[in-house]
Amino acid sequence: MLRSNITNIQTKNMVKFYLNNNLIKKSINDPQETLLDFLRINQNLKGTKEGCAEGDCGACTILIGKLDKDNKVIYKTANSCILFLPSIDNSHLITIDGLSNSLENLHPIQEAFVKFSGAQCGFCTPGFVMSIYGLLLKTKKPNKSEILNAIQGNLCRCTGYGPIISAAEELSEKYFISNDVLVKNNKYWAQKLNELKSYNIQEKENSKLDYFIPKNLTQLKEILHRNENTTIVAGSTDVGLWVNKQFKNIRPVVFINQINALKSIKITKYKVSIGSLVTYSDFQDFIISYFPNLIEYINRIGGDQIRNMGTIGGNIANGSPIGDIAPLLISLGGKMQISSKEKSKKIYVEDFFIEYGHQAISGNEYIHGFEISNPKNKKFEFKAYKVSKRRYEDISTITGAFYYENILNKKPVARFAFGGMAGIPKRSKSLENLFKENPENNFDENNIETAIKSDFQPLTDCRATSQYRQRVAENLFKKFTYFVNNEFDREEISRVS
Ligand SMILES: Cc1cc2nc3c(=O)[nH]c(=O)nc-3n(C[C@H](O)[C@H](O)[C@H](O)COP(=O)(O)OP(=O)(O)OC[C@H]3O[C@@H](n4cnc5c(N)ncnc54)[C@H](O)[C@@H]3O)c2cc1C
Ligand code: FES
Ligand code: FES
Repeated sequence: MLRSNITNIQTKNMVKFYLNNNLIKKSINDPQETLLDFLRINQNLKGTKEGCAEGDCGACTILIGKLDKDNKVIYKTANSCILFLPSIDNSHLITIDGLSNSLENLHPIQEAFVKFSGAQCGFCTPGFVMSIYGLLLKTKKPNKSEILNAIQGNLCRCTGYGPIISAAEELSEKYFISNDVLVKNNKYWAQKLNELKSYNIQEKENSKLDYFIPKNLTQLKEILHRNENTTIVAGSTDVGLWVNKQFKNIRPVVFINQINALKSIKITKYKVSIGSLVTYSDFQDFIISYFPNLIEYINRIGGDQIRNMGTIGGNIANGSPIGDIAPLLISLGGKMQISSKEKSKKIYVEDFFIEYGHQAISGNEYIHGFEISNPKNKKFEFKAYKVSKRRYEDISTITGAFYYENILNKKPVARFAFGGMAGIPKRSKSLENLFKENPENNFDENNIETAIKSDFQPLTDCRATSQYRQRVAENLFKKFTYFVNNEFDREEISRVS
């Protein structure tokens, strides 16, 4: 049985998806071919633009529709420049070219852009239109801050954002998205995507296949077991750049984004389990109800497209010292499950990071998911801060996440984790001890400095000097203690200016 599953995976060297209204069945000779190249070169659909080719500018924004657990097609924005074709297998793709077929027959979003002069050179415009489309499909009547959030990942260098925002505000007020063709035809496309899933492509056996699209965990484990050096691709917001910018060969490669078992957030009385394929956007929904003051923090990860694509598992697996999720999970005392065909292990997230570029995972293992205590049952203080050169769409210079729990008759728990202070995201145990030993929270500045210095010797690099990092870490800690002392949460405390 298992053997035939694997054979199936290896013999189907084709992906199938709907592109606007057309069914595409495409033989994959190069699994590193990007969706953007396919659209522009193979399909001659030149509306979707290439600006940066690294997920930063939004010129290549498209919508990807996927079936959710309620059998609805959910459309979300994504950057086609860093997506590989196998990642969109079994989905419904909408590009700017599918919105209208003539100047006389523009989509209402395009009409609003014309009305408010939301385009000058027009290079960024398709991306903006698709981002606003994604927003309206998600939020019927978005307010200004939701509009700004939705276009964080889109750069315009000539119009200025005012007219674009005005167009979006008018759409929010006057356009009834429930009349939109994608909303009205949702059932139709759900049926089409269901048919695609069971579509049987007859292909000759191809033993040279160097990519896989497993549909379940058994297949994934078997693939990794047989091919130890396979590159796992989840949201491809890192791997896409390895190919586009570093010209890496990532083959053999396994695209895991169709494994539903890795996509859920399960909440029980005592714990919350987060699948490794949960995207930042999905995580955001959970954060809103459990850690509302972290919303600003999550909103500062990439832009909307990146948040729709990037996964929690990918953010940890890449081992980055400046990934934004690690400090959160470490300070929450999070654990993670790492699995392979032979075994499954559970470790603390902080133990996953051994040293720069070296994590506690081997070539035939994958990250299954994460686990934290259910915060609803606890009384605690938790704050996280991100410092970066730009407010949005920027990688962190430093992050600090501070968790403190003091329950009567129990030992107090403090976990303070920093990103950007060492080769790995790491706790400052000296600072934690200092905090626990000072119930009054009256700290001598020198003690704070000494505590942080005894745990970190931060680097000087293009983002910041060592001294800057040291000083910012001290200030983030002070900000947290200010919050604890004052026991109130002003909006601007969770921001970093
Ligand atoms: C424009 C842009 C802005 C960004 N902004 C931010 C930001 O603000 N903050 C931030 O933290 N990051 C940011 N990133 C980085 C990126 O979004 C994250 O690192 C992301 O979480 C990676 O997840 P992914 O699913 O896209 O991983 P992928 O790119 O698919 O994979 C990343 C790595 O993880 C491995 N991997 C993925 N899933 C698994 C798994 N389940 N098991 C084992 N290994 C796995 C892959 O093999 C690869 O080594 C940004 C990236 C871009 C392009
Ligand atoms: S081309 Fe810039 S985000 Fe894709
Ligand atoms: S209209 Fe020229 S870049 Fe936006």
